[in-house]
Amino acid sequence: MSLFDLRNVSYAYSRGETVLHDISLRLEEGKNLGILGESGSGKSTLLRLMLGLAEPDQGVLEANAAPLDIRSRSRMQAHRRFAQPVFQDPYSSLDPRMRIGKALAEPHAALGLGGDARQEIARVLAEVGLPEDSVDRRPRAFSGGQRQRIAIARALIARPRVLLADEPVSALDLSTRVRVIDLLDRLSKDITLVLVSHDVAIVAALCPRLVVLQNGHIVEAGETRRILDDPQHDYTRMLLSSLPRLPDPAKEPA
Ligand SMILES: Nc1ncnc2c1ncn2[C@@H]1O[C@H](COP(=O)(O)OP(=O)(O)O)[C@@H](O)[C@H]1O
Ligand SMILES: [Mg+2]
Repeated sequence: MSLFDLRNVSYAYSRGETVLHDISLRLEEGKNLGILGESGSGKSTLLRLMLGLAEPDQGVLEANAAPLDIRSRSRMQAHRRFAQPVFQDPYSSLDPRMRIGKALAEPHAALGLGGDARQEIARVLAEVGLPEDSVDRRPRAFSGGQRQRIAIARALIARPRVLLADEPVSALDLSTRVRVIDLLDRLSKDITLVLVSHDVAIVAALCPRLVVLQNGHIVEAGETRRILDDPQHDYTRMLLSSLPRLPDPAKEPA
């Protein structure tokens, strides 16, 4: 069974041009999916549709084996337990005035999750490698990488089956990136990841499946290894040759 199944999905922002054209893709459990493309190719819009923040103009979007009706409150609450976002900028995604404990308690209450909130917060902080006393502090006490861990912890409160991560390490410095990527890799033992990135190395490290987006069209899709070894499309070849790479950790000074 697919976690997500998109069939011939198209989308335009109101009164705008179509930004996603006839998108078909599947997310299978345990098979992280990378979405690669230049800025403006439609990656974030595609994640917005998968999150239920907007609805396709055409085509079908199924999540957890049923069409996603974004006007149904109960369906959307279930969907938020199923799929959680991680955004690019950990500085703007956390309210600076809110202590971390409250930032993590809010989704626990809003999603009507069972279990003891305090225990669940301790669980997710441990999962992302932050000390339990983080709950008493505000975002400014944390570095960018730690804030992204907090944002990931907030997503984990829901015990989602899918994480939809939009350039989750682009705003971080290089040494922090590697550690957050390690965290995502560890989490994806239990949670299936959709990872939007313009960095081939990150996608290659985490995602066995890949979709390449150009101007809202899928130009290539399949196994990441195969696509990187033998790209079929000029646009993919261009991305592979021009995009920044992660530094090789083995070559970094200790
Ligand atoms: N809120 C919006 N209203 C209108 N057009 C938008 C909006 N957000 C994005 N777009 C347009 O949709 C296209 C795809 O954008 P986006 O999904 O953000 O691409 P990416 O994440 O790959 O950079 C771009 O042409 C962009 O200008
Ligand atoms: Mg984007």
